[in-house]
Amino acid sequence: MKLIGKTILITGGTRGIGLELATQLLAAGNTVLVTARGAAGLASVRQALPGVHAIQSDVSDPVQIAALYEEVRLRFPTLNVLINNAGIMRNLDLSHVAQPERIADEIAVGLSGPILLTQYLLPLLRQQPAALIVNVSSGLALVPFVIAPVYSAAKAGMHAYTRCLRAQVKNTSVRVVELLPPGTETALFRGEFEKEMKGQKGMPVIELVKQAIKGIEAGRQEIRPGLAKILGVMSRLAPDFMMAQMARMSAPKA
Ligand SMILES: NC(=O)c1ccc[n+]([C@@H]2O[C@H](COP(=O)([O-])OP(=O)(O)OC[C@H]3O[C@@H](n4cnc5c(N)ncnc54)[C@H](OP(=O)(O)O)[C@@H]3O)[C@@H](O)[C@H]2O)c1
Repeated sequence: MKLIGKTILITGGTRGIGLELATQLLAAGNTVLVTARGAAGLASVRQALPGVHAIQSDVSDPVQIAALYEEVRLRFPTLNVLINNAGIMRNLDLSHVAQPERIADEIAVGLSGPILLTQYLLPLLRQQPAALIVNVSSGLALVPFVIAPVYSAAKAGMHAYTRCLRAQVKNTSVRVVELLPPGTETALFRGEFEKEMKGQKGMPVIELVKQAIKGIEAGRQEIRPGLAKILGVMSRLAPDFMMAQMARMSAPKA
């Protein structure tokens, strides 16, 4: 599918990968809707990218998901692309998690929320002659990252769900693509991992998004840029070795 002249909803579109997707897809002549929780981020997108429809909506909250669905159905009935991109990534030591809600919301943002949003929007997408769902998981869906245990579990779940969804809608007008980014230079990559990732460089976000759009337009089902491709191969050849290597790489540095 060429990403030109489409109506595209991107969750988590106020920074990082989502914002860059919005920027490149708007420039290509699409109608772009973005969501996020923070009002300041939404205001700054409206200013930086006039023409983008910025909607406040928390993908971890079923009530807000239902409200978003109603708004999209009424205002953008031609929606034909959903990009489940919003994400949070926590650095958790499981023997010392003081706030269990930090686990629950990581699962809700990374797994149950996007599944629910997709379920709401699927009938609308199926009405279109051609539609697309892009689930942004992670290379960590293939090899878990020890210091991000709940994130890795949510992304592995998203990978499994995406494969099932693709199989279930294969005889409809809806295509399902999974984007598995490698470490990418965004707030999420640095956020709670600054100490561990010191000296590591992520992929530039512009490059990641260019590869994502190119892969979608080329008809790929799974897009694994850069290191994510290596993680995919190694997760089959030597899964324990690869997991140990990743753990070593993320050992705290002085
Ligand atoms: N960066 C990486 O290294 C990397 C690698 C692999 C996969 N990914 C995946 O790529 C996606 C984008 O990550 P990123 O690096 O671009 O992150 P980011 O820079 O932190 O941006 C995250 C975006 O999601 C929004 N968001 C967070 N929680 C939300 C919620 N509950 N409801 C709605 N929006 C929410 C944020 O806005 P608010 O905070 O205002 O809501 C923001 O717009 C995520 O799914 C992430 O897991 C990233």
